[in-house]
Amino acid sequence: MAKIVIIGSSNTDMVAKTKRMPGPGETVVGGTFGMVAGGKGANQAVCAARLGCDTAFVCCVGDDVFGEKALAGFKAEGLDISRAKTVKGVSSGVALIIVDEGAENSIVVAPGANDALTPEVVDEAADLIKEADILLVQFEIPMESVERAIEIAHEAGTKVVVNPAPANVLSKKALSMTDVIVPNQYEAVQILGKDKDSLTSPADTAAELKALGVGAVVITLGSKGVFVSGPEGDASVPARKVKAVDTTGAGDCFTASMVCALSEGKSLKEAADFGVRASALSVTEFGAQPSMPTRKEVEDFL
Ligand code: RIB
Repeated sequence: MAKIVIIGSSNTDMVAKTKRMPGPGETVVGGTFGMVAGGKGANQAVCAARLGCDTAFVCCVGDDVFGEKALAGFKAEGLDISRAKTVKGVSSGVALIIVDEGAENSIVVAPGANDALTPEVVDEAADLIKEADILLVQFEIPMESVERAIEIAHEAGTKVVVNPAPANVLSKKALSMTDVIVPNQYEAVQILGKDKDSLTSPADTAAELKALGVGAVVITLGSKGVFVSGPEGDASVPARKVKAVDTTGAGDCFTASMVCALSEGKSLKEAADFGVRASALSVTEFGAQPSMPTRKEVEDFL
């Protein structure tokens, strides 16, 4: 079976679901609270495992009850967490999330142990990265660690997939070693080092990224679906209409599902379509990891 290695963050999400986002200095009363497993890396790893992909997850958690719970959850999902680390004297990552009536979210992340995922921790997982078919990284851990992982994978011939979220700047060298990048429009602009207001068409943005050496570009466009620019040319994949409850983790679900499909030999467009279907299902449920669908659920949903 194809092997995917995901290196990234693990958080505990403290989620308040309320009518509307508070403005600056405002208190909004009313709503419900839930504590669920989250973190971009962990969400992607759990999604891949739930879809039946052979997946290893490299992360750092703190030596607290959140860290213990997170690791137990990863084991129960069948993830290889042989390189996951518990860091002494540090708290686990926590995300404070508000979800409004329209299913949109606002997130603040206190990274805690995620910041301890240094290039040295990545080096300790080098054998896993080299043996894998695909490496998947996001930007909720130190950027030098993201770049180290990309370098190891590229040199070993492991396909590199980058989900540049939350938005940050990746070195030109790392971009040139990236096989597939999966940004939303804002992350794409930021990774090109441009102003947030200078959005161009997805096709132009993709062309700019490819000119920097990125192999293929998949831009997520929310309710407008996904734009794909790969070896078979450019294509659009439509979004599926569902009743959204919570969009937290939808991008993670899309990316991980697409990577699973790529690891099974699907074309970029087919893989993106699989990801669109999986993420449409994920927004119909509350919470990041609890909402990741199973393979049967995705296959049954057209
Ligand atoms: O992408 C969603 C995730 O972002 C949440 O689970 C939260 O932990 C933040 O990392």
